[in-house]
Amino acid sequence: MTSPHANLLHKLNAKEAVIGIVGLGYVGLPLMLRYNDIGFRVLGIDIDQDKVDRLNAGQSYIEHIPSAKVARATGSGFEATTDFRRVAEADAIILCVPTPLNKYREPDMSFVVNTVDALKPHLREGQVVSLESTTYPGTTEEELLPRVQENGLVVGENVFLVYSPEREDPGNPDFETRTIPKVVGGHTPACRQVGEALYAPAIDRVVPVSSTKAAEMTKLLENIHRAVNIGLVNEMKVVADRMGIDIFEVVDAAATKPFGFTPYYPGPGLGGHCIPIDPFYLTWKAREYGLHTRFIELSGEVNRAMPEYVVGKLMDGLNDHGKALKGSRVLVLGIAYKKNVDDMRESPSVEIMELIESKGAEVSYSDPHVPVFPKMREHHFALSSVELSAESLAGFDAVVLATDHDRFDFELIKQHAKLIVDSRGTYREAAPHIVKA
Ligand SMILES: NC(=O)c1ccc[n+]([C@@H]2O[C@H](COP(=O)([O-])OP(=O)(O)OC[C@H]3O[C@@H](n4cnc5c(N)ncnc54)[C@H](O)[C@@H]3O)[C@@H](O)[C@H]2O)c1
Repeated sequence: MTSPHANLLHKLNAKEAVIGIVGLGYVGLPLMLRYNDIGFRVLGIDIDQDKVDRLNAGQSYIEHIPSAKVARATGSGFEATTDFRRVAEADAIILCVPTPLNKYREPDMSFVVNTVDALKPHLREGQVVSLESTTYPGTTEEELLPRVQENGLVVGENVFLVYSPEREDPGNPDFETRTIPKVVGGHTPACRQVGEALYAPAIDRVVPVSSTKAAEMTKLLENIHRAVNIGLVNEMKVVADRMGIDIFEVVDAAATKPFGFTPYYPGPGLGGHCIPIDPFYLTWKAREYGLHTRFIELSGEVNRAMPEYVVGKLMDGLNDHGKALKGSRVLVLGIAYKKNVDDMRESPSVEIMELIESKGAEVSYSDPHVPVFPKMREHHFALSSVELSAESLAGFDAVVLATDHDRFDFELIKQHAKLIVDSRGTYREAAPHIVKA
């Protein structure tokens, strides 16, 4: 009789395994499409009935994922469900659920824990469970391992446990799921082998590491590296500005050094579901070991101060035009957290809008990717995107360029806005009505 290990490896290699993806969001959906594309049967599980219904109807709910791709998957065996009992049908269960921070900026593991609790009764011999959500080192061992084994299964023998961080970069045309190398750590060597077999058919390069903890830490290092370097360049921006130096010119010049320098550009603050949040997963865990993560805290402090810095520049600019922010009409350009996407999670633009409004100005926004301001957990504006034209631009006392989408007509903005507060270095040449922020 073949062992559960050999049996599962065979099913994965032969593409006979059923892939179950739990959490069909920015991470889970592209992964589903990839496995479907290469001929695996994929079952999607999500608690959101509306998402499940839309997927089964062949519709996408993420701007950069075309509905045609979802419809093709639905037409070739993909099915979404809210029924966790169907986990038993899957040979591989990949978890892509959110890992946010709670209001005390501590890891909120409730999505991961609730998901594992919901699938626990339906786990069976011969399955692999892979966690992809970004999290602190130790999560797979501390939270998943005991739950997976609760009903008598033995990890490494008849069920397998891996951690493999996701490296999706939404809106980046240069990389797709297949071409982004994937790090995989297993709870045991047998688990790692299964993890490699799970991802090898879908991803060009799988990078095995020695443990789930090492894989968890790898993801955090990548995101902390970004947060810290963005914090550094944001601090440099403030210093350079005070000295009358253009930081963008400096970064571009430094980037000509062919070794030992990686360019990072300043902006209005950090946004998105990852970079402002993930580093604090390590901060929290490090405390258990009596350690402080000073770089993370410091860069968080610098980056979080950026929206206020931008609004300070807006007030200075208005002041130079003999105006106060109070009573002014201000248009924020770009409310997604980065260019060319529609994702507004943690977007600094929203904080900028709130600051502007709290100071008594009338705030509007324009974003070709976000036609109507969405309902967000903590913020709400009953606004829809202002169409940019010579007349509409001239009707505002100032515009704040927060996110530099390619779809903006920057020349039109330059010609017709009375005052531009540019936080992205879009306008390199000095002009009396352009303030660098
Ligand atoms: N978005 C990115 O670019 C990105 C990149 C790398 C890593 N990550 C990480 O991947 C994870 C998922 O992020 P995302 O951006 O895909 O989130 P998302 O919010 O887009 O998607 C999560 C999905 O999980 C579903 N869900 C929530 N609780 C569930 C439960 N108990 N059972 C089943 N489904 C449930 C939600 O309905 C949603 O559809 C996070 O840990 C994130 O940090 C995200």
